[in-house]
Amino acid sequence: MLRLNRSPDRLAKSSEPHLQVQGVTYCYGNTAALTDINLTLYPGERVALIGPSGAGKSTLLKLLNGTLTPTTGTVSVLGVPLADPNPRRRRALQQQIGTVYQQFHLVENLRVIHNVNAGQLGRWPWYQALWSLVWPQGIETARQALARVGLPDKLYSRTDRLSGGEQQRVAIARILVQDPAILLADEPISNLDPARSHEVMTLLTHCGQGKTLIMSLHALEFAQTYCERLVGLREGKIFFDGLVTAITPQQITQLYRLEP
Ligand SMILES: Nc1ncnc2c1ncn2[C@@H]1O[C@H](COP(=O)(O)OP(=O)(O)OP(=O)(O)O)[C@@H](O)[C@H]1O
Ligand SMILES: [Mg+2]
Repeated sequence: MLRLNRSPDRLAKSSEPHLQVQGVTYCYGNTAALTDINLTLYPGERVALIGPSGAGKSTLLKLLNGTLTPTTGTVSVLGVPLADPNPRRRRALQQQIGTVYQQFHLVENLRVIHNVNAGQLGRWPWYQALWSLVWPQGIETARQALARVGLPDKLYSRTDRLSGGEQQRVAIARILVQDPAILLADEPISNLDPARSHEVMTLLTHCGQGKTLIMSLHALEFAQTYCERLVGLREGKIFFDGLVTAITPQQITQLYRLEP
């Protein structure tokens, strides 16, 4: 694995890591999708996860948000192992991680406000969460989040009546309301046209300011434009990890080459 110019000093030395992956292997059945992954992300870093299809990008993001548990190794969030046996502490940690998906992961037949407020559910007691389905709660917070993503009038629209670009912005508004320390995105722009893709990337990087942002991207030019660090994954291993400015076109070509 090539390690090129570690993260900028201001990030690496001034703070504790937000995310730390140590010796992680993940197997689906008997097949390893990721092998011996080591990765440290510092507060405020913007990292693009790139690599060919099947390299393990989505699997890694699912390990980072606790959807999957490593077969071996540990993932730590804000210095605490994500696999904390105490369910309350685990939930509190997961509340610090927000994820945006390619397919938006919204409840399509609910109104926008309910989807945006889903970002609060981890903080609300169960009765408030339940009541919010009948009588929306946190209206002002949701309204402000929707205004920030350019959808001030869509509070009560049905989610499935919005375009793909608008739905992705609702997903980002949900993250704004959740206000996590770490923001993950799995191919957030793969269903969007170029103009909408730039809008969503601008929003993600603006909303992600001060947060740690890691996203998988197939569109290399977006990765290079919006992120400062590239992590290349190939066949379940880290192929390179370094600043955008330090990675050469040859390394990119090698990352995506077809032959073994
Ligand atoms: N649920 C699953 N069951 C079995 N194998 C899986 C499962 N999900 C992924 N895999 C396998 O794990 C490997 C990594 O898959 P993953 O989806 O993480 O790749 P990816 O880099 O996100 O690919 P893409 O760019 O196509 O989204 C692949 O070989 C894939 O076939
Ligand atoms: Mg994927």
